Amino acid sequence: MGALATAVRLRHDLHTRLLDARARTDEIFQLVREHAIYDRPIAERHRIIFYVGHVEAFDWNLLAQRAFGLRSFHPAFDQLFAFGIDPIGGGLPTDAPSDWPTRPEVDRYVRRIREELDRAVEHALARPEEGHPHLLQMLQVTIEHRLMHAETLAYMLHRLPSDKKIRGPQKAAWKAARIKSKLMDISAGHAMLGLHNSEAQEFGWDNEFAAHEVGVPDFAMDSHNVTNHDFLRFIQAGGYQNRSLWGPEAWAWITKDRIEHPMFWSREGNLWVYRTMFGDVRLPLEWPVYVSHAEATAYANWLGRKLPSEAQFHRAAYGSPDGETERPYPWGEEAPSEWHGNFDFRSWDPSPVGAHPAGTSAFGVSDLVGNGWEWTRTEFAPFPGFTPMPFYPGYSANFFDGKHYVAKGGSPRTAACMLRPSFRNWFQPHYPYVYATFRCVED
Ligand SMILES: [Fe+2]
Repeated sequence: MGALATAVRLRHDLHTRLLDARARTDEIFQLVREHAIYDRPIAERHRIIFYVGHVEAFDWNLLAQRAFGLRSFHPAFDQLFAFGIDPIGGGLPTDAPSDWPTRPEVDRYVRRIREELDRAVEHALARPEEGHPHLLQMLQVTIEHRLMHAETLAYMLHRLPSDKKIRGPQKAAWKAARIKSKLMDISAGHAMLGLHNSEAQEFGWDNEFAAHEVGVPDFAMDSHNVTNHDFLRFIQAGGYQNRSLWGPEAWAWITKDRIEHPMFWSREGNLWVYRTMFGDVRLPLEWPVYVSHAEATAYANWLGRKLPSEAQFHRAAYGSPDGETERPYPWGEEAPSEWHGNFDFRSWDPSPVGAHPAGTSAFGVSDLVGNGWEWTRTEFAPFPGFTPMPFYPGYSANFFDGKHYVAKGGSPRTAACMLRPSFRNWFQPHYPYVYATFRCVED
């Protein structure tokens, strides 16, 4: 295909991708029973109704005026639904359901935005010579912003009691053989972090630029994620009571909030129970454990190991023992499919570790992409040459505060487009709701 035809295809695909992304957030809101839409499943976050308006207001606020010269038809809602909350510092929102507009009002706002934007997007994509110079990049921002919300909304609805959700397709918890994780040797080499500025066709967020090479000395990494079974041993060994395993802030957090096990677990008599998206099951021992960064770090300390650095993760996932060239996915060049891992909205819950051998990396490490974000010990910080996006300057820069850590890979609810090696996720270390797991390394 010629360069011109490729460009036309790319433009056409963008609108389709925006519509597909909308279907993902619609699917999430349709899980919520009508009476629960004003609930706040996570105390530090907004009520669900906010997000119904937010994913649309974001698109509108970014594109309407700037890209298409459209006038606001509801400035009050544009502002009300503009910003989410990053829960740092413990201050909780105090608004009441009655502070929010009614569902029909929000639905009307959503419909009108979609109608107006769809018309404008269609028109603009057909006329590449006119329009805003950053239009394509901005459209990709709206698509990935929405897909990220499709994932973070899943964490949120995970906390909503089952009787407030309309049951989605449910896979029975798999019975799986226990896999013994081994330490795999990862030979010294280079990791090419980030995206080249010249990769014009490829979209990346500001924090993915610029590309730079990092030398990685040899190290060893767990072949499999730490499972619920492994983590149970940490609990039974008194890990949550052993102050020496926790940093001062992590210790203050688990003490204050009385945290004694992962957020996804609970106790019923002598039995450990696990909360899946649509109900409780007996603790699936072979699933990767989902925990906060602080809990993952305490576990690694217990074993006298560490979480991998971002560069170590990258080397283990995309490098190979015998070559200088990196692979676009741990398994090689092939586009991501259900054989390679648990991602792209295929499941609401994890699979047992090692269930996708076709996705194993060149170094023999399993599940590096999908089935849960992987914690690193790297603080979220700008790459050399970082420049904030002019139309969304706070996207990353607001989080370069030494209070967030990089997570890599992806979860069952991560869209395939965000499985690219340069994509960086980040969370604060005491946020326990994320689909994030980990493995340890020895330097
Ligand atoms: Fe947002």
